[in-house]
Amino acid sequence: MSKFSVIVLAAGKGTRMQTRFPKVLHPTAGIPMLTRVIAAAKQAGAAEVRVVIGKSSSQIKELIESMGATTFVQDEAHGTANAVGSAGLNSLYGEVVIVNGDHPLVFSEDIQGFVNSFREQRSDLSLVVSRLSEPQSYGRIVRDSSGRLFSVVESKDAGPSTLAINEVNTGIYLTTAKLLKKYIFQVRNNNAKKEYYLTDLIELYRHAGLKLSTIEAKARIAFGVNTQSELAVATRLLFRRKSVQLMSDGVVLVDPHATYIEDTVSVGEGSVLFPNVYLRGKTRLGQRCVIEPQCWISDCDIEEQVHVLMGSHLVGSRLGQDVRVGPYARLRPGTELAEGVHIGNFVETKNAKISAHSKASHLTYLGDVEIGSHTNIGCGTITCNYAIDKKKYLTKIGSHVFVGSDTQFVAPVEIGDYAVIGSGSTITKHVPAHALAVARGHQIVKPGYNKEGALSTSSKEAGHLCVE
Ligand code: UD1
Ligand code: MG
Repeated sequence: MSKFSVIVLAAGKGTRMQTRFPKVLHPTAGIPMLTRVIAAAKQAGAAEVRVVIGKSSSQIKELIESMGATTFVQDEAHGTANAVGSAGLNSLYGEVVIVNGDHPLVFSEDIQGFVNSFREQRSDLSLVVSRLSEPQSYGRIVRDSSGRLFSVVESKDAGPSTLAINEVNTGIYLTTAKLLKKYIFQVRNNNAKKEYYLTDLIELYRHAGLKLSTIEAKARIAFGVNTQSELAVATRLLFRRKSVQLMSDGVVLVDPHATYIEDTVSVGEGSVLFPNVYLRGKTRLGQRCVIEPQCWISDCDIEEQVHVLMGSHLVGSRLGQDVRVGPYARLRPGTELAEGVHIGNFVETKNAKISAHSKASHLTYLGDVEIGSHTNIGCGTITCNYAIDKKKYLTKIGSHVFVGSDTQFVAPVEIGDYAVIGSGSTITKHVPAHALAVARGHQIVKPGYNKEGALSTSSKEAGHLCVE
């Protein structure tokens, strides 16, 4: 496909969202709606994407530039025609597609299709239109007696007969830079909102005898997000679309309506996702994995046949083949679990590199730690990684180590291969390979101390004797 440019309009105030957060940065299924529109334009083959934003939008500017698009500022939100006029038209050439930044359901294949239709129609302006059962506040398409595009009337400026029209403006226009340069500044603001409406371009072109046409599109193309309710509708549709795509690739979704997988995520064939699973960001899930209900997995790289049990929270972690995690485990960034590792219930890991077939099955904190293979970490183990100097220190545990329950490792500390740590130990010194280390108070046994249970009736005396 030869080159065309895209202008994205994103300078509107977004007041109907009722938040201070810029409208086009609101995420739809995890991805800001503006990111979706820019990505769709780029993937469709746009040579250049220009985004028009409001004055105080430094957050938006950062996002636009990180995506290789160019920012243009509209000083005041005087309307959509004024926004297009702010897109530096002097340096723009060739075919131009104009889209709204608040239409997250426009995909790259849609834009490609519109460009193809525009070229086939050989018109000077093609307007993308949709038929809606409830046309609400969208601009209405008025046609002449021969059915040709005559004008677009905004709902606020429309009388009852125009409001009854169910064909609407999707806000997508295809024309040339040359014509835009000539006509955009001729638009006037004599309407209910006293704004410069881009829709008025239709009448200007018609008066000039230019050829107008329409391209019919699905209702979703017209779907602009102006309110939180509309944002939720868009989000639901995008998650649903991803679910359908995954199921067609052989992923088993127990309830596709309650599965939340972002577009950036990949899932291998035969994996089973239970309800209320969120897979986010750069997550890659291998084949034949099972993710039980209520799991949140963000930016994780997960190999085949991994089983994540109910209620687990995984962020920025790598999991090898046949790993088992949870229920109720928390894997924090920097966690690397090699093949066959088991992380059990109420175990937290952070910056933890654990080699093959090692286990930490219960109630444990493993932070800033390296653990060899086939090591068993007992219930209630804690790596004391954070010191009074506010620095983090490393615990190194070798392979085939047996760590008894309720052990604390006061980092920095190293444990050699095949070492054994007695239960209840507070380990502050290195333990060589094959050694046994026990660091706990000795058990005192006083035979006959509570003769016939007499002490249980005198708690005062018992307290006194206990501190002896
Ligand atoms: C607009 C169209 C309407 C169409 C609808 C489709 C006009 C006059 N109306 O209405 O016919 O049915 O989109 O969703 O064009 N913007 C700017 N600068 C401004 C004003 C708006 O950049 O001064 C941007 C907004 O950020 C938004 C887009 O233009 O991305 C559309 O503006 P919005 O206020 O949402 O227009 P609608 O009322 O939805
Ligand atoms: Mg809108």
